[in-house]
Amino acid sequence: MAATVNIGLIGYGTVGSGVVRALLEKGRYLEERAGARLVLKRVCDRTFRKTKGPRLPASLTTTHAADILNDPNIHIVVELIGGIEPARQFILTALRQGKHVVTANKALLAVAGQELFAVASRAKADLYFEASVGGGIPIIKVLREGLIANRLDAILGIINGTSNYILTKMRDERLSFHEALQQAKQHGYAERDATLDIEGHDASHKLAILTLLGFGMPVKLEQIHIEGISKISQADIQYAEELGYRIKPLAIAKEVDNELEVRVHPTLLEKSHPLANVNGVYNAVYVHGDMVGSELFYGRGAGQNPTASSVIADVADIARNIATGVSHRIPLDRLTHGGVRRLRRMGDIETRYYLRFMVMDRPGVLARLAGVLGRYGISIASVHQKERKAARIVPVVIMTHDAKESQVRRALQVIDHLGFAKHPTVALRTEAPRST
Ligand code: HSE
Repeated sequence: MAATVNIGLIGYGTVGSGVVRALLEKGRYLEERAGARLVLKRVCDRTFRKTKGPRLPASLTTTHAADILNDPNIHIVVELIGGIEPARQFILTALRQGKHVVTANKALLAVAGQELFAVASRAKADLYFEASVGGGIPIIKVLREGLIANRLDAILGIINGTSNYILTKMRDERLSFHEALQQAKQHGYAERDATLDIEGHDASHKLAILTLLGFGMPVKLEQIHIEGISKISQADIQYAEELGYRIKPLAIAKEVDNELEVRVHPTLLEKSHPLANVNGVYNAVYVHGDMVGSELFYGRGAGQNPTASSVIADVADIARNIATGVSHRIPLDRLTHGGVRRLRRMGDIETRYYLRFMVMDRPGVLARLAGVLGRYGISIASVHQKERKAARIVPVVIMTHDAKESQVRRALQVIDHLGFAKHPTVALRTEAPRST
């Protein structure tokens, strides 16, 4: 007879509702595939008012997390409330009592991942978090298990579905930023506080998790350079298109000369780049390893069912462990460093830049722009000026060759103080496809 595994779920919101529905509707199917009966024992929510999940009998619900955390018959606690506290305390309490934990909590893992891994290790309990990155894409399992033989040198990801959705809608349907954001909220993609999505914080949480798993490198959030997509205008999207690029919200962890670059910002990708055609709410994670070369993992990065799919995969993994009498098969408190020695300072990164100046249309302006860039060692690859319509201010778009970030910053500081520059210059980095 199949083992019975009891589940307590805390947080009956968008994802929690998807998990509960699947557990209730697919019980038999999951039992056959997992080799254990997955029984929903208790669901906790503060109010149950906002849920769109199945109606549950009163015997199954509680408003006190302790009813789950202290129930000796519950084997797996699924934490889906998000945020740092009280989620951290709930998870620590569960682990210390030897319960296994499944969480989608990227913010918590980004700031306290190592602490939680250590506690799980001591308690010989499992802590799984597939749904924390990439929605329905099983990228955590890929990094933790599938690519174990590889030394990685790059992880590039579109890992915020909301930002990707907004930029895609702005490009394809010419929606305004705010219209597109509204739609993302309606679909349930955005965080409760959508600034986490559009200012790059959500992606930085996920990047910290990927960096820890992929490079064995713990990175503090404040060490990640973050720029959101709120500064991207319709004009930049269209100019980039005309030049053969797409603007994508990219999270980058890349080894260069034994240093690791970790940054999140909107990035120009050539249209042939494997990540350039990842649109809408889709996420993708590109990984380069010394044995596998390039790999791309693609799927829905947000939304109820894709995320619930990952939560249930974790539950099933743990249920299999319980059924076969093993636990803590994959300890994460001893991740090795590979060859990366330290983080690279942002000023030291080198890339091609897209620069959009808004300048007075008069003789000598282009020469002065070129002169300042040249003084800072920035070589121009191409120049594009739009013919002026009514206003005397025109956009001038310059693509540079590889240039050092610190030099670009210095040059733009000078240019933005020149009398003919009428708006702060927009500077966007590019990422070239790799040949291997
Ligand atoms: N708000 C997140 C996103 C949800 O848009 O990607 C998935 O983590």
